[in-house]
Amino acid sequence: MESPRKFIVGGNWKCNGTVASVSKLVDELNAAVEANPEDFKSVQAIVAPSFVHIPIVMQRINPLIKVAAQDLHFGHCGAYTGEVSADQLKDLGVEWVIIGHSERRAGTASNYGVMAFESPERVQWKVSYALSRGMKVIICCGETLHERKAEVSIDICKTQLWPVVRAIHSAEEWKRIVIAYEPVWAIGTGVSASKADAEVVHAGIRSWLAKEVSKEVASNVRIQYGGSVSPKNCMDLAQATDIDGFLVGGASLFAESFASIISAGAKFGRNES
Ligand code: PGA
Repeated sequence: MESPRKFIVGGNWKCNGTVASVSKLVDELNAAVEANPEDFKSVQAIVAPSFVHIPIVMQRINPLIKVAAQDLHFGHCGAYTGEVSADQLKDLGVEWVIIGHSERRAGTASNYGVMAFESPERVQWKVSYALSRGMKVIICCGETLHERKAEVSIDICKTQLWPVVRAIHSAEEWKRIVIAYEPVWAIGTGVSASKADAEVVHAGIRSWLAKEVSKEVASNVRIQYGGSVSPKNCMDLAQATDIDGFLVGGASLFAESFASIISAGAKFGRNES
């Protein structure tokens, strides 16, 4: 039986790429899978292209690498201009979705100026609808630098995760949830959390889940770390007891770095059986 905490590495390509560059990246990733199939069997690899590139990636990528959307609409298809529903993603064969990335959340979405994008309620609706359609969800949380300095990192994660916890109604749905702890100050900065600092938050989230949900959910749910993960720092981070994978931005745009992060997960990650 597959371990409930199989190491899981996602590549968030964000708003990057062209048809040509994405096709090339997929070809290079496929070559990396062929060169090291065992690593891609022991670690679950996922890539999240822009919506427009999802069909190209789905058609081309080795099936050992799964495809995720970077976001989705909070409900069904209909008169919602510009939105993409879970129903449409499922129709394309997309199993995974990332929800609540800090670049989309209200208050921390500096890339979008003053626009408040993702409220906790919207995150909750999105998780709820995605789960109801059978999708697997990577739900992001993480504190800003200001909040880290105020030593409230775990409290911020709990506040962000609480509406999500209320949207999950069964043990089966919990199996389709992955939490990504992504401190905002570490995203795209080249400064990752240390293994010790990340571990404190991961363990904090887990013990909170044990209290609020159940011991079983807490010990089975996978918690990824994200924020400037690179081929250099991933070996150390992968060894932390409560880190079950990574959500990688910048380094996932290069097949070689992404593949070496997968290999580090295969070698150093905790893959309990
Ligand atoms: P980064 O991004 O690896 O470029 O820091 C991580 C993320 O935003 O998921």
